[in-house]
Amino acid sequence: MLQVNHLNKSYRTGNNIYPVLKDVSFHVQRKEFVAVMGPSGSGKTTLLNCISCFIPHDAGEILLHGKDLSGLREEALASIRNKKLGFVFQDFMLLDGLTVFENICLPQIIAKLPVPQMEAKARHLCNSFGIEKIMQKYPAEISGGEKQRTAVARALMNQPYIILADEPTGNLDSKSCRAVIDAFLQAKEEMDATIFMVTHDSYAASFCDRVIVLKDGQVYKELRRTSSRQEFMDELLNVLKLLGGDNEDDLA
Ligand SMILES: Nc1ncnc2c1ncn2[C@@H]1O[C@H](COP(=O)(O)OP(=O)(O)O)[C@@H](O)[C@H]1O
Ligand SMILES: [Mg+2]
Repeated sequence: MLQVNHLNKSYRTGNNIYPVLKDVSFHVQRKEFVAVMGPSGSGKTTLLNCISCFIPHDAGEILLHGKDLSGLREEALASIRNKKLGFVFQDFMLLDGLTVFENICLPQIIAKLPVPQMEAKARHLCNSFGIEKIMQKYPAEISGGEKQRTAVARALMNQPYIILADEPTGNLDSKSCRAVIDAFLQAKEEMDATIFMVTHDSYAASFCDRVIVLKDGQVYKELRRTSSRQEFMDELLNVLKLLGGDNEDDLA
């Protein structure tokens, strides 16, 4: 579903060039739930921004569903972002002036799809994620976990090839975090969704099929979950402990 091959990305400030991603390669299969972890500054957000086509990369290729996105013009990219990518952000990015239901409908309103189908789909997603009782509420009137489940529902509206999530549980308590992870797992099982999630949180990552660990802009390790969630979490904590950096927080 997603193939990243020999990706390189540097930032330039004045005469200085900072290499951030150095020959990063990996694949994400359809219906896979993959996390990216790594110390602060290891290039996680940069990687996600390259895949989202928010920033250009210097070398290598990013293939989404077999298609290289790098040569596309802004209009084509905007259409791909709307129809083929679903986004979930740490700070929810819901529109305060719209209800939960309207927020979920937004991608299809932008894509100009027929209203009755759109409303049926949004209602179905609300039921799936247990947010049908708050459909008519505004973001200011609901909890963080409910906001993020709304964001997951919105991300699924156009049946994207992949959902890209940057620290989706970063602003949530452990109960809400679990509710959001459950929404991702449900999207994967029931809607065949593919999810690519950047996270600091070993607990959230332990629910994934696979975890890619970045260090200094390179893939340091890929861990596949083969045992219980608890064992996988212990394995992740051990790897992160060896890496040091700001993941120390997770060990407290
Ligand atoms: N727009 C930018 N210009 C210059 N340097 C940047 C920019 N964005 C990020 N960086 C630098 O690139 C490195 C990786 O950043 P980032 O991808 O945000 O890491 P992470 O998300 O893993 O914390 C950091 O050293 C950061 O300071
Ligand atoms: Mg980041």
